[in-house]
Amino acid sequence: MQIELNILILLRFLQLMRFLKQAILQKKIDTIKQNQQTVGFVPTMGALHKGHLSLVQKALNENDVVVVSIFVNPTQFDNATDLKKYPRTLDEDEKLLQTLKGTILIYAPNPSDLYGDNVSSKNYNFGGLEHQMEGKFREGHFDGVGTVVNLLLRAVMPNRAYFGEKDFQQLQIIKKLVSIEKLPIEVIGCPILREDHGLAMSSRNKRLSEKQFEEAVIIYETLMEVKKEFKRKSISKLHQLVVQRFDNHPSVELEYFEIANTKNLQTAKHKRKQNTYRAFIAAFTGEVRLIDNIALN
Ligand code: PAF
Repeated sequence: MQIELNILILLRFLQLMRFLKQAILQKKIDTIKQNQQTVGFVPTMGALHKGHLSLVQKALNENDVVVVSIFVNPTQFDNATDLKKYPRTLDEDEKLLQTLKGTILIYAPNPSDLYGDNVSSKNYNFGGLEHQMEGKFREGHFDGVGTVVNLLLRAVMPNRAYFGEKDFQQLQIIKKLVSIEKLPIEVIGCPILREDHGLAMSSRNKRLSEKQFEEAVIIYETLMEVKKEFKRKSISKLHQLVVQRFDNHPSVELEYFEIANTKNLQTAKHKRKQNTYRAFIAAFTGEVRLIDNIALN
């Protein structure tokens, strides 16, 4: 009781708290909702950057209180080294969030807070979205994402949840998840934020050397080139163009390039006037895997 009182006082004066555990979080959110206030939610894996801050800012503009979760979710990694090396910077994350004005609650659960003693994924059927692109190259990834986002959404029960379009496939899958799980939550996609030279902002950029950071811009430049040529060239010619560009820049290794229908993310083989398309790239710079995408029409 005393602890909870202290926490509420801290929240009022600091408007920011580092570590809210499930029960306290729940109680706080219940109070917010009883007061007819709205809750925005930004789930993250930490190592926050300006892209995350733009999501939090949008959530602050549209809600009374914003919860930011910081949790590196083990079940969505298909590669143990990637999970181990994923940057963890909780203190810096907290400082970055403090630069924003508004009521922000940081929720940093442990695996057992979310999963209990069974850290495993549920099997989801996302209507085929999960078999495209990232789904082909990262086994079980979207089951892990779906499982943790479902757990997080149920823990926070926000009015709105915000996700970046850099993970466009993830965004579509989360919209589907919310309908599968019948959660009364609005899922809002937010535009990609880019570094000055165009590379999409990502927590993984922290793992790039200066040289790799510069070289990785080929991902964005290629997407821009595809966008420019989209009307004039066939999809197979665009594939050739992309492969050629990466062959000329062997420091960045193309994993896949896809043009997909924006609605269902099915691979597009031919263009149809009535459809909208996006181009997607996954590529390795050293051992760091980066993804990006762009709207084409
Ligand atoms: O996009 C991310 O950072 C993660 O996939 C998410 C949505 C926080 C789930 O762990």
